[in-house]
Amino acid sequence: MKTKIKNNVYWVGKVDWELQKFHGNEYSTHRGSTYNSYLIQEEKTVLIDTVWTPFSKEFVQNLQKEIDLNKIDYIIVNHAEVDHSGALPELMSLIPNTPIYCTANGVKSLTGHYHKDWNFKTVKTGDTLDIGNGKQLVFVEMRMLHWPDSMATYLTEDNILFSNDAFGQHYATEHLYNDLVDQDELFQECIKYYANILTPFSSLVDRKIQEVLALGVPIDMIATSHGVIWRDNPTQIVEKYIAWSRDYKEDQITILYDTMWDSTKRMAEAIAQGIKKADKNVTVKLYNISKTDKNDMITEVFKSKAILVGSPTIGKGITSGTAGLLEEIEGLSFKGKKAAAFGSYGWSGESPAKLTDWLKRAGFEIMDEGLKALWNPTDEKIEECIAFGQTIAAVANK
Ligand code: FEO
Repeated sequence: MKTKIKNNVYWVGKVDWELQKFHGNEYSTHRGSTYNSYLIQEEKTVLIDTVWTPFSKEFVQNLQKEIDLNKIDYIIVNHAEVDHSGALPELMSLIPNTPIYCTANGVKSLTGHYHKDWNFKTVKTGDTLDIGNGKQLVFVEMRMLHWPDSMATYLTEDNILFSNDAFGQHYATEHLYNDLVDQDELFQECIKYYANILTPFSSLVDRKIQEVLALGVPIDMIATSHGVIWRDNPTQIVEKYIAWSRDYKEDQITILYDTMWDSTKRMAEAIAQGIKKADKNVTVKLYNISKTDKNDMITEVFKSKAILVGSPTIGKGITSGTAGLLEEIEGLSFKGKKAAAFGSYGWSGESPAKLTDWLKRAGFEIMDEGLKALWNPTDEKIEECIAFGQTIAAVANK
């Protein structure tokens, strides 16, 4: 059922309460998600984005209950990823000649996915589309935020920015608006989304936001493609994005460790003790890599000024869980953060050096060459771990 969001603009999306993993198995969605699609019924009828493929039949059937599909004049595809374009094949099979407005890269992504020669109309930043009753759609390319094809669409008079993924969250809710949901949950999902998806593109986020702000247009609502619509102080999420895009860090040190027989775990706890001894104010968080959701750990890395990564030596290297996490951390290109490594061993002890190399490669400033403990740490070694933590606390503050 369509739900009015302002004047002749309606939400026609899907709330996916069951979603637990997104992007295959790459992103945990503890609170589900939504795929937001919007219908504008002015003199012209416009559909902005659709929903993910599994919901395409349901989406089209629901839309048919609201309007004659042949009355849709324009389809806007802000982003071709299948969670937003997935219902297009179903829809276009019924209205094959309806024009699809998207960027030039959008045409490439859509044809790459669906291999259909639909009626594409390419747009670029500043292009407009008249939809009658004195209203226009204005397109703004958002290249690499987060795909080459991404764009936002601004509706004049109603002052709504349809931002697609930007400013969104994987957050299932029957409340459509930001002011109606639990604020802690909302901002946790926002920062997780930014940390795990947008971090590599941070320099573009800042530049693009400044470009949009320079247009000087009023923004009463930011209608994202996931989660809530920002209607109460919508610029609050824009301000958050600006802060997050500028090498964001809080006064936090995160210790990520894997352990086989608890030796590396004992090291991690002693290091944490040392950090707290040296700095009463810093937030120290410890996570067992094998027992913690990786996207939640990435979010904590994003918030940290420094991280410590620990793994026992297994074979000639580190645990597979640690390697998987570091692969993800490297791919996200964190900037302005410090790191060091540690780990227990029985004979060869390659782990700390290997971890240090990886952290260096991932762009972290290395605070120390790393700490090793032979077998189960002795009391003396535990004292050394505490001292290591004290050193780390001091270096992390420089
Ligand atoms: Fe929500 Fe990039 O798709």
